Amino acid sequence: MRWALVVGASGDIGEKIAVDLAKDGWSLYLHANTEINKVNKLIEKLRSEYQKQDFLQIKADFNDLKQVEGITAQLFSLDALIFAQGTTYYGLFSQSAYDNTAEIMQMQVLSPLRLIQLLEDKLAKSGYGRIVFLGSVYGGSGSAMEVAYSTAKGALSAFVKAYSKEVASLGITVNVIAPGAVDTKMNSLFSDKQKEKIDEQIPMGRFASADEISYWVRAVLEEHARYLTGQTIYVTGGWLK
Ligand SMILES: NC(=O)c1ccc[n+]([C@@H]2O[C@H](COP(=O)([O-])OP(=O)(O)OC[C@H]3O[C@@H](n4cnc5c(N)ncnc54)[C@H](OP(=O)(O)O)[C@@H]3O)[C@@H](O)[C@H]2O)c1
Repeated sequence: MRWALVVGASGDIGEKIAVDLAKDGWSLYLHANTEINKVNKLIEKLRSEYQKQDFLQIKADFNDLKQVEGITAQLFSLDALIFAQGTTYYGLFSQSAYDNTAEIMQMQVLSPLRLIQLLEDKLAKSGYGRIVFLGSVYGGSGSAMEVAYSTAKGALSAFVKAYSKEVASLGITVNVIAPGAVDTKMNSLFSDKQKEKIDEQIPMGRFASADEISYWVRAVLEEHARYLTGQTIYVTGGWLK
């Protein structure tokens, strides 16, 4: 049985990834930070639908390295590691609190990298190890008002280029799926008018749905995707990048 850890399974994109991977036969460790009830409900639903698979809950704040390191003791085998957690802060960088920048880097870059160090052996043992980050088009293009977020996402794209070279011989692939704008609660602070303005800039004329992002995560987890590594795949409806 193949096992994947979905970090951020309580988020809109992470939940869709979990539902799709369960359908594909994966057993899952489902992570939440604050929304643990949401993940528990999802686990109940998946257990009743897929009785031959297993679904376990993981709770950790990725701003707290001790909690992140504690995840390893809760995992048995592991074949895939998906990082779908993330938040952003809006505002001019010159006026941003240092703590907000530090949190973005800790939660989206430093904690995931530490977890990967601790889990490399398990992924190597799998012979099928997969690591997928949810990046962002802003990691490639950069965005005013989201400088720290753009920096963190760009760091993930740089990380997969370098780290993929170290672990290719272990059968581990590491890639970034980088969405443009996705219709999730992360964008709920935009008014309908603001969203329409963004729609006008996107060649596809609309935000992506979560399943249009999940599709690519599943694709990277397919056995035949084993030769793809170190890449950032932009899924943006033709926007920006
Ligand atoms: N939505 C977009 O337009 C868009 C575009 C490009 C890239 N992305 C990326 O796609 C990923 C998923 O985004 P989404 O739209 O699904 O976001 P979302 O619905 O807001 O979900 C955010 C997820 O991040 C988790 N999280 C927040 N703070 C955390 C912390 N301190 N420690 C651990 N987990 C934490 C949340 O956990 P709890 O809810 O349990 O607290 C939740 O699972 C993110 O990496 C995001 O940057 C999104």
